[in-house]
Formats: sequence, structure tokens, C-alpha cells
Amino acid sequence: MQANIVLLPGDGIGPEVITEARKVLEIISSIYDHKFHFEERSFGGIAIDEHADPLPPDVLEACRGADAVLLGAVGGPKWDDPLADVRPEQGLLRLRYGLELYANLRPIKIYPGLMDASPLRAEKLRDVDFLIVRELTGGIYFGQPRERVEIDGDIRAVDSMVYTASEIRRVLRLAFQLAASRRGRVTLVDKANVLETSRLWREVAKSVSQEYAHIELDYQLVDSAAMRILTSAASFDVLVTANLFGDILSDEASVLTGSLGMLPSAALGEGSLGLYEPVHGSAPDISGQGVANPIGAILSAAMLLRHSFKLTEEAHCVEHAVEGAIEDGARTGDLGGGLSTQEMSTEICARLDSRSKE
Ligand code: IPM
Ligand code: MG
Repeated sequence: MQANIVLLPGDGIGPEVITEARKVLEIISSIYDHKFHFEERSFGGIAIDEHADPLPPDVLEACRGADAVLLGAVGGPKWDDPLADVRPEQGLLRLRYGLELYANLRPIKIYPGLMDASPLRAEKLRDVDFLIVRELTGGIYFGQPRERVEIDGDIRAVDSMVYTASEIRRVLRLAFQLAASRRGRVTLVDKANVLETSRLWREVAKSVSQEYAHIELDYQLVDSAAMRILTSAASFDVLVTANLFGDILSDEASVLTGSLGMLPSAALGEGSLGLYEPVHGSAPDISGQGVANPIGAILSAAMLLRHSFKLTEEAHCVEHAVEGAIEDGARTGDLGGGLSTQEMSTEICARLDSRSKE
């Protein structure tokens, strides 16, 4: 196939890991005879420096016109003032919203070779393999009113958690569809004992579940779900939840895998266009040193192949190569090893080649 991929390396370690993910995609395209065209654009803090805008209009347009977008990370100490008018994170939120990517998939998978890297005991990690589906363009991240007003010498700040039934329904449907190709269970995580929006999520979930009779649906309050992620995560299959809850729980869940550096994500909408990014962020503490773990970005490229291009075999090939490298002991610093970003990627790329010759 032919496809246009927009690369948004962004800030911090973003460019370092995207370079390696691109290499992987280039090798895949030559093994399987695809034509991937890459276009690199400025995004995040670096775009603030260059264009005074973390998401310049022509970059958003380029993403809209692409077949897929692969993003590194945004943000860093230079742009960290939370009171600044223009911040890198605004670019990310506008990009997700502008491309209508309402569902964020964050798979949590344990590699047997990495059990030691997790602070949890091996027995808590056995059989853990679940998918967080986080609503991405609604809820408290985007709800109105959002404001700050001074009343009688006091300051009042307001964020609003808002959901419509249709926003909830579309992300739930996707969660059910994904569960159908997994172990057939959806857990809705909410705060229905307190929040009106959560009660609406439950109502919609109940009605959507009738369209998917073979999928089991259960409900879990977010506070106890946070606990269960650490005590009995193996019981989760697809965990679907609102924007803010998903943000928090996905960082928590990353601990199970041994390192945030391992985790990929996909932001999807109605069409085939998707935005793929490692979960780790810009990691300013190690940026520029060439020691970042490229696996989150490389597995994000695998998700790109699977979800935007429907290239399942190619996606497997990448995932296999990552598993092989981990199995054989390849480790970057975050995993307790000494490989550089490039060396880790070389280990993975070598395994892409060998698989093609089988
Ligand atoms: C994430 C990040 C972002 C979010 C930030 C950088 C705005 O934490 O992708 O999880 O909160 O969505
Ligand atoms: Mg987050």
C-alpha cells in the first residue's frame, strides 16, 4: 500500500524515539513492499519557539490530510509555566480534538522478561494483559464553563465535566468491538456513586451492551479500580473510562509493565486516521543523551500499522521483534540495562529482518 505519515517528533526525547520508530516503519515498508511517505512537522514547544503556536494551522491541516500521524512527545521545562498563555499541551489537546480522535487505546501488556523491572511482585503480574480505552475529546478536559473569576476578593476557578450520550456511546461501542477480538469483557470505570456524568455513562453502557450480547459488561468505581490495577489486574480485559480517569489510571497501570518507556498508544476516531504516540512524554531529565527507550514509539508504530492501515501481519512482525529483543536481554536504562536508544532499536530492527527470511 501507499500511505502518507506525518511525523511530529515534538520536544525532549520525542525526536530521538521517533527517529527509531521511523526506521522500523521504513524496514517494514521494504520487507512488505509498501510505500510510506514521511513528512516531518513542527509541533509542541518547538513550534511555540518557531511559530508562537504549539499547533500551527498548516500542521493541523497536514495531519488532517495524512493517513496517520506519529507523535513523539510535547513539553519541557522551558515551556512549563502553567500560567503561560501558550503551552505545548494545548497543541496536543487541540490536535486530538481537531482530528476528532475520541478514543485513546493504551494497552498494558507484561513481558515475562521484564517482571523484575516492576515494583510489584511477579504473582500480581501474571496473566496481566488489558486495554485501557480512554475517552479523549470530552469530559473535564474540554467542558464549558472553564474560567477563573474574582468574586469579593476571592478567586474562583471552574472546570466542567460534561458528557453527552452520543459522545459516550461512540467510545463505548469501540470498547465493545475491541473486547470482541480479545477476552470478551468490558469494565466501565466511573464514579457513579457521586457524579451525574458517570450515571449517564452507566445508562448508555447498559443500552450499548445489548448490541453486543456476547460481551460481558461490569462496572467498577474509579477509586477501587485504581486499587485493583495493583492487586488483581489480570481480571481486566477492556477497561473503558472518561478522559480524566483514563489519564490517571493509564500512568498507574504503566508501573505494572516495568517502565513507562514501554507503552504505546493510539488515538482513533470514526475514520482510519489515527494519532499514535508513546505514553512516556518528553522526559527532559534524559533528553539529548540518546538513552531513551524507543520501544513505546516503536510499538506505537505497530499500532499505526494495525489500526490505520489494517496491516495486521506487519504489526505482528514489529511486536514480535520487540518481544524477541526483550527476551534476549536487550535493555535500555529505564529497564535496568545499558543500551542506548539506537542500540535498542538496532536489536529490534535486526529481528525484523530475520523474521522476513524465515
Ligand atoms: C497524556 C498526557 C496529556 C493528557 C497531557 C500532556 C495534556 O498526560 O497523554 O496522558 O493529559 O492527556
Ligand atoms: Mg497522562
